[in-house]
Amino acid sequence: MKAKAAILFAVGQKLDIREVEVEPPRSGEVLIKMAAAGICHSDLHVMTGHLAGPTPAILGHEGSGIVAEVGPGVTSLKPGDQVIPLWRLSCGVCEYCSEGRPALCAAGSQVRMTGRFLDGTTRFKLDGMEIKHFAGVSTFSEYSVIPEQAVLKIPQDFPLDRAALLGCGVITGVGAVFYAARVKPGSSVAVIGTGGVGINVIQGAAIAGAEKIIAVDLLPNKLEFARRFGATHAINARETNPVEAIRALTGGRGVDYAFEVIGLPATIRQAFDSLSKRGMAIAVGVTPMTTEVSVPIMPLVFEERVLTGSVYGSSRPRIDIPMLINLYRAGKLKLDELLTRSYPFAQINEAYEALERGEGLRSIVTF
Ligand code: APR
Ligand code: ZN
Ligand code: ZN
Repeated sequence: MKAKAAILFAVGQKLDIREVEVEPPRSGEVLIKMAAAGICHSDLHVMTGHLAGPTPAILGHEGSGIVAEVGPGVTSLKPGDQVIPLWRLSCGVCEYCSEGRPALCAAGSQVRMTGRFLDGTTRFKLDGMEIKHFAGVSTFSEYSVIPEQAVLKIPQDFPLDRAALLGCGVITGVGAVFYAARVKPGSSVAVIGTGGVGINVIQGAAIAGAEKIIAVDLLPNKLEFARRFGATHAINARETNPVEAIRALTGGRGVDYAFEVIGLPATIRQAFDSLSKRGMAIAVGVTPMTTEVSVPIMPLVFEERVLTGSVYGSSRPRIDIPMLINLYRAGKLKLDELLTRSYPFAQINEAYEALERGEGLRSIVTF
């Protein structure tokens, strides 16, 4: 079948919407009619080359849709089911899958790095040329074939525009709080970078019962959003040194947890420098692949500080996304307020330009 899809042909280019040929799902795969796709910074990192990604590829890793067709052997899904694609495919049987860390599964890395399914092929073609699957899901396409292992069924009555946000921004941010840091009630938290993902770290910290939640950003509009999502303090890093401000707000002690949600060595270092003794800095943002960060050894050893990273919220999406849906339905997780703009699919490049300008919080394109 034919479908309109947003292709990245080479690093440095804009997305090009073209009509591609989508092959039918093979064994263990499903064809999804996409309803919405999220505009996340990680796709932009691929467009600019900060993140390695095979090209030409159909980008997009956050989304929601409806199963249109299932391939042979698919048992957990049927046509008509509402679903979310999971951007890190997991095999279900390896060491990391078994211990509840599916984002670390080698099968997922293979799909992500090659842009091909595990059998080494793709289901997209443009005039006979192979087009790759970004992160195995390629949500920037009217139709996408995805392995059953990377598709999660959600309740039939759940709004698909809101659902599109759950699969990356929300699970990555809230999950980093719940599963990477394991933020304790009454603790202090700093969040450096409060865009689409960082705002979810803030709301995760609020749900976890943190006492102080200090938001740091360069843009006044992001800090205003941060307050609405539970930040108790807001620091504009353009005007104030965030490390000094965080220390001042904690009586000189530093915070128990500092999240970096931008992807810059300088701000990862700020997170580390803002910690209390035994504090934990969690890098969530993605930096250019070759970047390094350095930290002073004295506080690392004599204050037992921890520096770690978190991918996909260190979560188990099949358990945690349903949990997030329940939190939303209970009025405890903000999704309506998170979705600040919806663009028609044809305007996807405009949506990315708005993200670069720092507008809104999280936007989607709809098909
Ligand atoms: N200090 C403070 N805030 C900053 C700085 C800085 N030096 N530089 C950028 N920011 C802020 C921006 O103003 C913006 O609000 O960081 C925020 C980044 O948010 P988004 O652009 O919305 O990006 P998002 O989709 O949240 O992704 C953030 O997480 O998953 C990764 O790949 C993703 O690296 C990216 C990061
Ligand atoms: Zn695995
Ligand atoms: Zn993302």
